[in-house]
Amino acid sequence: MSLPFNIAIDGHSSCGKSTISKAVASKYGMRYIDTGAMYRAVTLFCMENNIISNKEIKLNLLIEEIDNITIDFIFNSETKLSETILNGKNVEQIIRGFNVSDNVSVVAQIQQVRKKLITLQQEIGSQGSVVMDGRDIGTKVFPDAKLKLFVTADAEIRAKRRYSELKRKGEKITFDQVLANLTLRDDHDMNRIINPLLQADDAILIDNSNLSINEQNNLIDNFIINILSK
Ligand code: DC
Repeated sequence: MSLPFNIAIDGHSSCGKSTISKAVASKYGMRYIDTGAMYRAVTLFCMENNIISNKEIKLNLLIEEIDNITIDFIFNSETKLSETILNGKNVEQIIRGFNVSDNVSVVAQIQQVRKKLITLQQEIGSQGSVVMDGRDIGTKVFPDAKLKLFVTADAEIRAKRRYSELKRKGEKITFDQVLANLTLRDDHDMNRIINPLLQADDAILIDNSNLSINEQNNLIDNFIINILSK
């Protein structure tokens, strides 16, 4: 069965939005789009083209180059996951690194970047049956989505989860650096002028600080079943 509607999942950094999205997409035969990956890919482009350094962005140069950025997703049939392609190159691993995380908030607050990516996200969503996660999906990208979730968890718990993930990947980083980056990104996301992170009025709040992945999936299944039964 493929669900006939889009699902919008927003929330704080590292709160497990992608875990929820992947589970829902796989269970209900939907397409999963990670919009954070798009902002990360634009950030990598800026880093590789000297448009950003030390979190200072050369806005004129970015505006000149923005039409030269193409972002696609390909499905990896081995891992069964979608991977991010920037100008024809698979950047799925590198965009998850700490360097990109450290610069992405600056890029994500640029109006021209948001406009380009939101247009692309809405085009993808127009095909229907998409689970999309990010910060402004329920408020700006799919304001009419039938199911909107706003996910959060205690900042220390989120940082612990993220720290373990980065350590597993061999990143040389301390817990305090991870917590500081996460708190800073929350702050940027919630306080930026354009499309800040907000819970949509009709979004359901999920605090997963003390929920297992199974408990969380069951909760979301119930929301979906409820919509389908109407
Ligand atoms: O979900 P993530 O942590 O991979 O997202 C990376 C950054 O991109 C995050 O710091 C905020 C930004 N972002 C955004 O501003 N709007 C979105 N729809 C998705 C991500």
